[in-house]
Amino acid sequence: MEAWWPSLKLLITGASGLYGSKLAQLALSKNFEVYSSDIQSLSVYGNFVKLDISGKEQVEEAFKSIKPDVVVHAATLTDVDKCELNKELAWKVNVEGTKNITEASLRAGSFLIYISTDYVFSGETGYYKETDKPDPINYYGLTKLKAEEIVQTQAEYFIARPSVIYGSTPAAGKVNFALWLIETLRKGERVKIVTDQWNTPTLNTNLAEMTLEVIERRLTGTYHLCGATRVSRLEFAEQIADAFGLDKGLIDKVLSSQFTWPAKRPMDSSLDTSKAHKTLHCKPLEMAEALKLLKLELSQKGS
Ligand SMILES: NC(=O)c1ccc[n+]([C@@H]2O[C@H](COP(=O)([O-])OP(=O)(O)OC[C@H]3O[C@@H](n4cnc5c(N)ncnc54)[C@H](OP(=O)(O)O)[C@@H]3O)[C@@H](O)[C@H]2O)c1
Repeated sequence: MEAWWPSLKLLITGASGLYGSKLAQLALSKNFEVYSSDIQSLSVYGNFVKLDISGKEQVEEAFKSIKPDVVVHAATLTDVDKCELNKELAWKVNVEGTKNITEASLRAGSFLIYISTDYVFSGETGYYKETDKPDPINYYGLTKLKAEEIVQTQAEYFIARPSVIYGSTPAAGKVNFALWLIETLRKGERVKIVTDQWNTPTLNTNLAEMTLEVIERRLTGTYHLCGATRVSRLEFAEQIADAFGLDKGLIDKVLSSQFTWPAKRPMDSSLDTSKAHKTLHCKPLEMAEALKLLKLELSQKGS
């Protein structure tokens, strides 16, 4: 069978973000025709399209002019506390924005990939499978679940659920947890890290590479696309410190109850990746492998 890429047009929403920017970069290296969209014009890879996904007409116009074959929809109000405090905005961007993207994809005949989250789960049990019932405990998680339900009205779609994304480059004006930790420990400063929250952290490069395989093979359904190793935030921090030869003694262990956040956090939203492991050639990476890759990327940047 002849491949349906690389002549395809790929529209990425949230392309200035931690994940979207890496996807755009890797898709360009595969010669996809990349259209990168965000609001603040921070996207640097491919053809830039300024697009507020909450504007239905703007979205329709963009789809009419680009006619994307594939849409990776990652634009989201990702600040969990902001979503809790400004529910109207969270709904407008995360739910109505996704409705606009889904309807436009349907009209344009574009294959839609939606980037969801581990926060659709309550975190009571952990190691969630794709067949487990979502039950979000904060507003961000609720909006992402509603968005999933909208995407699922399409005959053909792919939903990817990552968990705690990290990478080698600050994006969308923010430094991710791994970079923040490396920079802080390198300065010899102390950090407080919680011992009682578990996830399956996801290197953005690994998630982007898995997404590109999904596009190339036109896979459908819902998949947990995240790292393969379940860790507490403390274990994540300690493994980063070990991988980068930093002083673990600077890490102070705290309980999440010592922080007051506007939004509740799931205690254990780790995801089971066995479905992705069985299906994909590009596997979810174990933490040690992912940190090796992060180290390589940072050394290539000279940092
Ligand atoms: N980061 C994590 O730990 C994590 C964990 C699990 C799941 N996820 C999911 O993974 C996806 C990517 O997350 P990320 O961390 O890469 O995001 P991010 O770095 O926070 O970036 C968010 C992106 O969304 C864009 N955006 C926000 N509101 C928009 C709007 N109204 N219209 C158009 N674009 C808008 C931002 O554009 P501007 O730069 O212009 O504001 C930015 O490009 C999201 O769907 C998120 O829910 C993330």
